Amino acid sequence: MVEETVLRPADFIAPLFVVDGKHRPEEIKSMPGVFRLCIADLVKECRALAKLGVPAVALFPKLEAKLKDDEGTQALNEDTLVLRAVRAVKQAVPGLTVITDVALDPYTSHGHDGVLNAARDDVENDRTVGILAQMAVLQARAGVDLVAPSDMMDGRVGAIRKALDAAGFSGTGIMAYSVKYNSAYYGPFREAVGSAQAAGTRLLSKATYQMNPANRREAILEATLDAAEGADLVMVKPAGPYLDIIREVRNRITKPIAAYQVSGEYAQLHAAARLGWLDLARCRNESLLAIKRAGADIILTYFAKEMVAALKG
Ligand code: PBG
Repeated sequence: MVEETVLRPADFIAPLFVVDGKHRPEEIKSMPGVFRLCIADLVKECRALAKLGVPAVALFPKLEAKLKDDEGTQALNEDTLVLRAVRAVKQAVPGLTVITDVALDPYTSHGHDGVLNAARDDVENDRTVGILAQMAVLQARAGVDLVAPSDMMDGRVGAIRKALDAAGFSGTGIMAYSVKYNSAYYGPFREAVGSAQAAGTRLLSKATYQMNPANRREAILEATLDAAEGADLVMVKPAGPYLDIIREVRNRITKPIAAYQVSGEYAQLHAAARLGWLDLARCRNESLLAIKRAGADIILTYFAKEMVAALKG
């Protein structure tokens, strides 16, 4: 009767990785139970998730290295992997909400979320925003319900909203990765999508566009700007190490708040459980409950499927 926070199946978004060709599912080494799926298996998984009651999926493509280049050209190919995946999923499971990332990192040979400047020492914000807006329109045309800019360029939410409206997609929503920290917890994800080649070198530092983990006021600024530019949901990422930020954003922004329990948070629970040092199911439940208690309405987590299954008993 006095319990204040309750997790429900409708709270979760399942991130899924997709690869081209016909493959058996490839498990990601540092993410036990998470697989890269070919489109046929992805469709099967989406059917199973929808049947279980998971309301939404976020799709991430892993491209072959030979398709990547400096400019991330494949991001604007109408037949690029993720767009084919979206069409297949939407056709097979129309009721499942499908979300795609708007960022260039799966497509660039250097792994950055944008194109580089002439000196090649930073991303070029405004030129990147133009590409991202076109990318969002292609995703909307393929049938996504929400586009999710995860790139952290300045001004991209407004530009994407304008481009979507101009192309006739006023009903396509935006889930903005508004408060995305420059976090070491993304390591396993970068392995999963293969954007990690340059990890550790100066070039792959995303510190000029992702947020400094030391900053709290800046989080409010980023969330406020994105909400004003037309984001339908604002996200805080990572989730677990940033519960104070989730609460801060919750207190100031009236739009729904999403939080992303990222790959490293998932990996650390699994690693400790493997050593017999933590109880995986109980820590999973507690970590997700804490994220919701902090103020998140919606949680992206690699535990989505098993969590929803557990909630349904
Ligand atoms: C990239 C992107 C990242 C994640 C989601 N979209 C990684 C990065 O910024 O390098 C991380 C998700 C995770 O770690 O689970 N645009």
